[in-house]
Amino acid sequence: MPINLRGRHLLTLLDFAPEEILFLLDLADDLKRKKRAGIRNNLLAGKNIVLLFDKTSTRTRCAFEVAAFDEGANVTFLSNSQMGKKESLEDTAKVLGRFYDGIEYRGFKQEVVELLAKHAGVPVWNGLTDKFHPTQVLADVMTIREHIRKPLNKVKLVYVGDARNNMGNSLMIISAKLGMHFVGIAPKQLFPDQELVAQMQELAEVTGAQIEFSENIHDVDGADAIYTDVWVSMGEEAQFAERIALLEPYRVTMDMLRMTNNPDVIFLHCLPSFHDLETSVGRDIHEKFGLTEMEVSDEVFRSPNSKVFDEAENRMHTIKAVMVATIG
Ligand code: CP
Ligand code: NVA
Repeated sequence: MPINLRGRHLLTLLDFAPEEILFLLDLADDLKRKKRAGIRNNLLAGKNIVLLFDKTSTRTRCAFEVAAFDEGANVTFLSNSQMGKKESLEDTAKVLGRFYDGIEYRGFKQEVVELLAKHAGVPVWNGLTDKFHPTQVLADVMTIREHIRKPLNKVKLVYVGDARNNMGNSLMIISAKLGMHFVGIAPKQLFPDQELVAQMQELAEVTGAQIEFSENIHDVDGADAIYTDVWVSMGEEAQFAERIALLEPYRVTMDMLRMTNNPDVIFLHCLPSFHDLETSVGRDIHEKFGLTEMEVSDEVFRSPNSKVFDEAENRMHTIKAVMVATIG
């Protein structure tokens, strides 16, 4: 059956079938090749897109904007609307749905993006909530397919760190959908919601995936990709002390890469990353806790194993694929 995603929301990849995810990845590959070749098809000509941001962003905002411009769409960036303050989410969604062909939302609660989708009447795309970051993991698997010359069902992806955040959840979901071997390595307190894990382990039985969790960093053995994210996500800044205490043993270092016994292991990170003292937050943490790097060592971040900037670039190609598939 041909895949048709027209009119669909992207709130979480839980709502997508494996073949729909693969369709988006193939489309992203194709759009990337075309952009490199200087081919523009104006696939979003005449479309209007609004980007709602209740949290900060570099990649996601710019990816949506450049993807839209490349394909001929117009964009409004909105971070100071009436939404939730003087106007309900429902009314805002109904208004924006009258103006725009697609709505991106980044913010806190997953319920907000779901409510927007319920009332907008046009596709709504989740640009990150506390729970999920679906457009990010499309770029992550796109990068894995580019750098790991194995079928996805032979790939072992190890996520080390805060395994219950939006990235931990979303990587587990896409791995379960696409039949990958996913290992979350974290202290027990930071394992994801048990219900979601059970649901993904059940799905894994159908797709051939493996979904495992461990507290032991030696379980990186055999990894094709090591992934980490910040220890403290946006909105959780009060938890730095507690997270540092829990996660210091889980920093991704050259020693950890060696523990994979795979010299070709790739390192991935959604970014932004605290790998040096070139940020004000990083310097603040350094002053308070004495750390010069957090979730990943500067050496790993800058090593040839690190594919983080290919991954960042792929945000644009995958987000373009999502928009082209749903409103193009
Ligand atoms: N990875 C990611 O979502 O980056 P931004 O926060 O810069 O959008
Ligand atoms: N877990 C991080 C991801 C940033 C892209 C956060 O939510 O801040």
